[in-house]
Formats: sequence, C-alpha cells, structure tokens
Amino acid sequence: MRTQVGIIGAGPAGLLLSHLLHLRGISSVVLEKRSRDYVERRVRAGVLEQGTVDTLVEAGVGERLLREGLPHHGIELRYGGAGHRIAFEKLVPGRSITVYGQQEVVKDLIAARLAAGGDLRFEVEDVAVHSLESDPYLTFGGERLDCDVIAGCDGFHGVSRPAVPEGVLSVYERDYPFAWLGILARVAPSSEELIYTRTERGFALHSMRSPTVSRFYLQVPADARVEEWPDERIWAELRARLESVPGFTLTTGEITEKGVTPMRAFVAEPMQYGRLYLAGDAAHIVPPTGAKGLNLAVADVRVLTEALAAYFADGSTGLLDGYSDACLKRVWRAQHFSWWMTTLLHTFEDEDPYGRRLQLSYLDYVTSSEAAATTLAENYVGLP
Ligand code: PHB
Repeated sequence: MRTQVGIIGAGPAGLLLSHLLHLRGISSVVLEKRSRDYVERRVRAGVLEQGTVDTLVEAGVGERLLREGLPHHGIELRYGGAGHRIAFEKLVPGRSITVYGQQEVVKDLIAARLAAGGDLRFEVEDVAVHSLESDPYLTFGGERLDCDVIAGCDGFHGVSRPAVPEGVLSVYERDYPFAWLGILARVAPSSEELIYTRTERGFALHSMRSPTVSRFYLQVPADARVEEWPDERIWAELRARLESVPGFTLTTGEITEKGVTPMRAFVAEPMQYGRLYLAGDAAHIVPPTGAKGLNLAVADVRVLTEALAAYFADGSTGLLDGYSDACLKRVWRAQHFSWWMTTLLHTFEDEDPYGRRLQLSYLDYVTSSEAAATTLAENYVGLP
C-alpha cells in the first residue's frame, strides 16, 4: 500500500491535515489506535481562536460550527471579591473566540473525510514508523504503508516522537504542582462569558458548551483522583470559588463527565526529523489556562499543508525545511502566554505572603491598565 502522506492520529491535527491535503489533491491515510466512537466522545478543550474558525470555515467544515458555536467577545477575571471584564470588542476590535467542543470539531472532520471517500483506519494495532531518513513507511496490524512523508499527529503519548533517534530533539518541559478537575454538567451556563477565578482556595473556571451544557474546572492537587470528588463535593467547591462576588449564583445540574487533566508544559525541538513531521500535542503541550492547545495544533497543520503542497507541486523543500521554525515561533508565544495565565490565576502551595500580594497586584494591573489588558486579549484571541 502506498500514499503520499501517512498520518498517525485521528485527533483534530491528523484529521484536519488529511482534509486540507485532500483539498490540494494530495492523498493520505489516517491511522488511529482508538475507535471512532472514542475519539468522537473524548472531551477536551472548547475555545477556538478566530484563525482556527476561519481555517475550518474556509476548508468547508465550519457549517455546524457557525450554527452551534458560541461567539464570545470577552472573558471575566474574578478575584478579590470582584469581577473584571476583558472586553475583546474594545481591546482587540473585530477579533473574538468561539466556544465549540473539540470533539465536535473531530466529528465534523470525520464526517467530511468519510463523505469525500477518505481513508481513515480506526482501532489499528501496533502502529510503528520506519526508515525516517528516506523511503519512510508505517506498519500496523501486519500491513505496510509506504509514504513520501509521515505526519506524527498522535498526541503527547504517541509513537511518532519517540521514534526520533536519541539526542536529536531538545526537550523543554515543566510540570505544575496541581491539576485540573474538569466536569460537564447538564445545566445552563450561570454566566454568558467564561469566568477565570482566582481564590485563596485555588483556581476555578466557568465555561460552557451550549445553552444547556456547562463546563467547569477546579484546581486540584496534582495527584487528585476523580473518586475523591463526588458530585456534591465538586459543586460545593465550585460554589465556594465562583460565588466569590456579590449577587452571583451558580446553577447546578447533573454531572455527565469528570476527568483530571495534569498541568504540564512541553516542547520538543525541532518538530521534524528526516521525513517525519510532528504536529500538535505530539510536539508540544501547554497548560489549558490559555486555551491554546487545539489552536496551536490547527496552526501547525496550516503551515504543514502549505509546505507539503509546495513539495508535491514541484519538489521544492524550502517550506518543509522551514516548518519547525515557522511553528515554534507561535508555539513559544503560546507557551509564555499559558505560563503567564497559569501563574496569574492559580494558588501555589509554596508561595509566601509576599508572592501572593505580588500576584494580586499584577491582577489589579492587568484589569486596570488598558495596555496590560490588551496584551491579555490579543494573546487570548490569538495572533493572526
Ligand atoms: C473549556 O471550555 O474546555 C476551556 C475553556 C477555557 C480554557 C480551557 C478550557 O482556558
């Protein structure tokens, strides 16, 4: 079996790449070890930057997103007993974000690939990459797939990054001493906008998925397990943190999903070795506070598509050679922004009283200085 681009992973990065390549007349096969049902139900992030929305719409997979996605023109920072709105329409006019679940993006992309006769293989076993320096190929479930290029879109725990020989990649990482407990609940959002809350009990985030489904996160210890968090405890803690301003009441409902997400930052450089190109979480992850993970994956795929289109058009390798550098600029900006948002809003156990005062002073600055608020807004909605 032969294809132009062998893609490992049917998450947003792999599926979008396959779709964009198809639009350029380039063939691909997508290999995914999980089932279709699993990837379509996997609850992840939900904030799409304008550039991500534009990419999906231009690629013809934005119809449901435009219909069901929730446009947001601001977020609230809540701390010290008051809420402060970061108004995108004033600070970054014409730019906004859209709340639409990552698994909905995945569903839309799978439907589009299948409608176009795309080759997606789910539940494939033992995927392995070979001969990355030249004539690369993939093996899986006893089959062999020869490729011109391999795209590693298989996430942080995937097989593609570890296939790069020892010593080639430089790795930069940081583990935070806490995690996020995330839930989905069948209840109307208690606020029209996302609320990022800093309290002495820890961080909390109020988000949403639709007019009838809310999404919440709580800062919890790094070793927290969902079993320690029965529904009543979650609601009590969300109330304690979010009802920290006068007049705000949290509406509760049935919890339909619970999970603990570690807070970690990671970058592997370069994002390429031989004929293997890494995209999305396979190359870099950010803590979720800045809502950048999915958007970075889409940006990588945009760059990789242009580079592959040039390569398959006339054999030119200039854009492919520049792929890693082009992506890493954005990746590092997002790393810094995610670190900054995380540091601003969480409680750190080893923080002394001086550090806590500094954090509050910085929050006051961000919410009172137009320049500082603009910096937040500009990064949050995403760089062009
Ligand atoms: C989400 O809705 O899942 C979400 C929103 C904002 C974040 C992270 C996650 O920063």
